Amino acid sequence: MSKTIITQFLSEQGMYYGDLNFETECQKFIAEMEKGLSPEGSSLDMIPTYLSVKNNIDTNVPAVVIDAGGTNFRVGLVSFDDNMKASVNDFSKTRMPGIERELSKQEFFGTLVDYTKEVAAKSSEIGFCFSYPTQINKDKDGLLLRWSKEVKAPEVVGEMIGANLVSGLKAVDGKDRNVAILNDTVATLLGGKGITSEREFDGYIGFIFGTGTNLCYIEDANKITKITDAQDDTMIINTESGAYNKLPRGMMDKALDEASNNPGDYQLEKMISGRYLGPLVEAVLKGAAKEGLFSATCNEKLMSLENLELIDVSLFVAHPHNTENVLVKCVQEPTDTTLMYELIDAMIERAAKISAIKLSACILKTGAGRDQARPVAIVGEGTTFYKLKDYKEKLDYYMKAYLSKNYGHYYEFIQGEDLNLIGTAIAALAH
Ligand code: BGC
Repeated sequence: MSKTIITQFLSEQGMYYGDLNFETECQKFIAEMEKGLSPEGSSLDMIPTYLSVKNNIDTNVPAVVIDAGGTNFRVGLVSFDDNMKASVNDFSKTRMPGIERELSKQEFFGTLVDYTKEVAAKSSEIGFCFSYPTQINKDKDGLLLRWSKEVKAPEVVGEMIGANLVSGLKAVDGKDRNVAILNDTVATLLGGKGITSEREFDGYIGFIFGTGTNLCYIEDANKITKITDAQDDTMIINTESGAYNKLPRGMMDKALDEASNNPGDYQLEKMISGRYLGPLVEAVLKGAAKEGLFSATCNEKLMSLENLELIDVSLFVAHPHNTENVLVKCVQEPTDTTLMYELIDAMIERAAKISAIKLSACILKTGAGRDQARPVAIVGEGTTFYKLKDYKEKLDYYMKAYLSKNYGHYYEFIQGEDLNLIGTAIAALAH
């Protein structure tokens, strides 16, 4: 009974996962990828990385590894022994600059130098995992195209991230340094490739589902028609899939987008990623309460909910009767719990289905993974990927039901510790 109520409510709001046609959405995504690789361009940046997966790595020398993620900023040292075993040392973690308050260009790079100078004294090779849309040049430096994930440092847009960091560090100690900037999806792909060198895969995808969401894959260089200077026959492409704007959006998606720092941009990311899923669930619950779907007291309490975070949502589905939980506190009758659970579950299912659509589109586009013995490796990272209850199982369900069963393409999820840090070190030490 309650399933019908929530299905109908979500469908009316344009938020129901069941109304997304997997095949149609996959084909639309592939078309947008192709356009993004051509000079015409599309909502998918399809950023050439000038990195392939065929490099040699310097061993027994440390690289400084910096990781600027959507929430945290980490810095430390990584080196590889003769057997390519990585050691990850001296890592410290702080908040990503520009999340708590708006920073000027000078403040932003000044903070970066302050956070990194101590570790940067230990090696002149820097790998910088920078998880924002960044145009990479042949020297492996990167120009920030725009911010995502609500970071506030507008003067940094259009700046070279590596050059600014290196000159800031040089002002401290007079030393020159090399820096390689890479996206977190790319770092994760390289890290995953690094730990599976004894396996044979028919391709790799780097997939992040955390504060933001994105994926990268390996493309034939001759299909990247917007560039003519590829150095190898394949290249890793950062799709910037969070910016995709061809999915049908619902009422709550549009309202959340309007209230964000960058209305109109990053539409896919705002529909599913960790930074946005909490507020989106809040909006859906309030919408349902407004229509009187819950008991009277519960409707009232839900309407005055504020700043719901994904962690509270995740804890609710993990333990829907824990009276400490802010959502459980809104419940008046057992049916409230059931309805709430089903609404949240449906939003997690939508995130998983959309993730499966873009991952499947990538695999279908490259034609990889037709041999079950040589599947495509999907290297997955991100707190939400691992911690959001049922997300991974639902993602796997859609991938199996559509990509494998209907299209005959196979994949395997790869996971490991510190893969993006290891991949970043690989990029810094590759030649
Ligand atoms: C960024 C991507 C990044 C993703 C995952 C998005 O907001 O634009 O570059 O890969 O988040 O961290």
